[in-house]
Amino acid sequence: MSEIVLSATPAHLRHGSNIGQPLTRRDGILKVTGGARFAADNHPPGMLYAVLAVSSVARGRVAALDVAAAKAHPGIVEIMTSANKPPLALDPDAKTNPFMRRLELLQNDRVRYANQPIAVVIAETLEAATEGAALLSPRYEEEAPRVRLDAAESFVPPAVGVGHPSEAEIGDVETGLAGSLRRIEATYETPTQFHNPMEPHAIVAAWDGDALTVDTPSQGLAMAQARIAELFGIPAENVLVRSPFLGGGFGCKGLFTGPQVLGIMAARLVGRPVKLVLRREQMFGPVGHRAPTQQTLRLGTDADGALLGLSHHTRTASSTFDDFFEPASDVSHTLYASPAIRTSYEAVRLDTGTPTFMRAPGEASGSIALESAIDEMAEACGMDPLAFRLRNYAELEPISGKPFSSKALRACYAEGAERFGWKARPLRPREMRDASGLLVGWGVGTATFPALMFQGQARAVIRKDGTGIVETGAQDMGQGAWTALAQIAADGLGLSMEQMEFRSGASNLPDAGIAGGSAHTATAGMAVAGAGADAIAKLAALATGDERSALFGAGNAGVIARDGRLFRRDDESRSESYADILNRAALAEIEGRGSSAADPIAQANYAMHAHGAVFAEVKVDPELGQIRVTRLVGAFAAGRIINPRLVRSQYYGGMIWGVSFALHEHGEIDPRSGRPMNPNLGEYHVPVNADIPSIEAILVAEEDRHVNALGIKGVGEIAITGTAGAVANAVWHATGRRIRRFPITLERLTEPAPR
Ligand code: MOS
Repeated sequence: MSEIVLSATPAHLRHGSNIGQPLTRRDGILKVTGGARFAADNHPPGMLYAVLAVSSVARGRVAALDVAAAKAHPGIVEIMTSANKPPLALDPDAKTNPFMRRLELLQNDRVRYANQPIAVVIAETLEAATEGAALLSPRYEEEAPRVRLDAAESFVPPAVGVGHPSEAEIGDVETGLAGSLRRIEATYETPTQFHNPMEPHAIVAAWDGDALTVDTPSQGLAMAQARIAELFGIPAENVLVRSPFLGGGFGCKGLFTGPQVLGIMAARLVGRPVKLVLRREQMFGPVGHRAPTQQTLRLGTDADGALLGLSHHTRTASSTFDDFFEPASDVSHTLYASPAIRTSYEAVRLDTGTPTFMRAPGEASGSIALESAIDEMAEACGMDPLAFRLRNYAELEPISGKPFSSKALRACYAEGAERFGWKARPLRPREMRDASGLLVGWGVGTATFPALMFQGQARAVIRKDGTGIVETGAQDMGQGAWTALAQIAADGLGLSMEQMEFRSGASNLPDAGIAGGSAHTATAGMAVAGAGADAIAKLAALATGDERSALFGAGNAGVIARDGRLFRRDDESRSESYADILNRAALAEIEGRGSSAADPIAQANYAMHAHGAVFAEVKVDPELGQIRVTRLVGAFAAGRIINPRLVRSQYYGGMIWGVSFALHEHGEIDPRSGRPMNPNLGEYHVPVNADIPSIEAILVAEEDRHVNALGIKGVGEIAITGTAGAVANAVWHATGRRIRRFPITLERLTEPAPR
């Protein structure tokens, strides 16, 4: 009987009063009053401070560390090096699935990249530990580092991203290009970028025998718990990971990192709780980055501007010892119709830390190249860039031939263009100036990101007082997950937000999967909805099978849960409260379980993506080359919107990052030393308030019956993808200069054009 109610979940949720409401963040007051306890705010009794000593060379070996000098400093408790580190149950270089990083855990004296941890200093105070780290005065045997993307020998990576093929083709691209009336070929370069969440990686680790409690920011609690357990050879249930708040994640807190493990090892070594917090510059190496790319796009069209061939080749880099390859070409699989599409990759190995997921991994880098190339192709065809995109609109997913589960991209183009005033745009560049003589340009970019789901679980309880509890080990890294998930949970139980307690953020709760891939709301949301439906089904079975109930004989399919009561669907005058049902059955509570996963049949039949269109205005000083984004309008369609206030905020965040990608971010690596040269927020530029203009996000209505029963896609990453290209295209439209190396800086805009 419970299956009937489960399958009726969407209908039962349509009665919900919380889904779709623009509620403010449930953790907002805690955040703004300083009441939210982040990992580094924890101070268990007896806690010591650990500081990493990191390598100042990028390749070679540590020849000597002055451990004696450091140890002699007052307050130093221990120096952890490869000589005295506690044993591990698993080789830190082992990799059994793509969702793990090979780690530097002092396993030997090799240095594989700059800022690699080479020792951990543990002291009574942070100051003593910091001084001790300086006193180690490492000596190195240094080898010439390889850090240039264009210099090293390349190879075809076995897979990109998490196991995607590194070559794909439909049709015959060479034939398509050869038969094209117009062709363009261009190479775009994107730089190394670093995540830079406001909160650095931090860990407070406390052992109690073979049981471990860690406070550390994590985008995937169960995954972190399992990784720790296997490294230390203890049962997963011995490990409690608490991550109630993250000060940003963006991907670098997805897979468990070396410095976090080192904090746990340090605590094990000294037998006391230890806190380890990375300094900002120490985040430029051991915790991942967005790899640089060189992307060559070749496009060709017929006389009407219809694409006949699209080739997208990416050269990228991984570390010398691990295998994350930025899947930048794959965006060309889905966005524009062409009878022939080919994507390919080559990669080099560099003496850097291992790159990892960074907000819209693949799509962000890939779409800035594709959207620039599409703009160049439109120009070659003498077409308006929006008209060109509509001319090549993909009705089916090009690479697979599958229909889209839903695709309101036409509406995104139309609503965004209308709001922006796109139709007044002159076709040619350098034709608009503002009153002060600045060049004005308008650009458009298409946004796309897959609608993913991972596996998740949740538990729901209805208590005899009529209140509820919903638990799932989800992560709120600032995106508002707890608010959105609580809204789904409340509707799933047919309760108000006040009648229900939502518990999350610890690994001893049901596994909510990963807060990544823009899949968290769909994954954890479907699990909590399922848990609620399961609890309601059990409650309904109690009522409808009991002749003392007003619902007797109604049958599960005919019951609706709302406001703490069950109603007969065919006669809503007949109802009963949860409390009455449980009390009559002499039950203190009733429990439901829910789980979620992508539906393999729907996935086989449909291509699932969110879409959007972003319109940007820039102003450029014609003499100085200074670029200002002055206006941004984004229109996005991402299925059912659980909380429009939070979703708009996610779109703003993504759009701001798009501006950052196009104009600001650039991790500079010194080609001689291999060291990051701007490992701080003073010199690694990200936009500040003055860089962000008027910004608008339009939530375009979209109903999706296939992605999951709630119709949720994802919103966390998509907005960066359209915006970066829109800004770059606007710079061209303002100036007539096409800058193919990102970020587009004043220097690059004003340097003489290459011949
Ligand atoms: Mo995101 S890069 O999937 O955390």
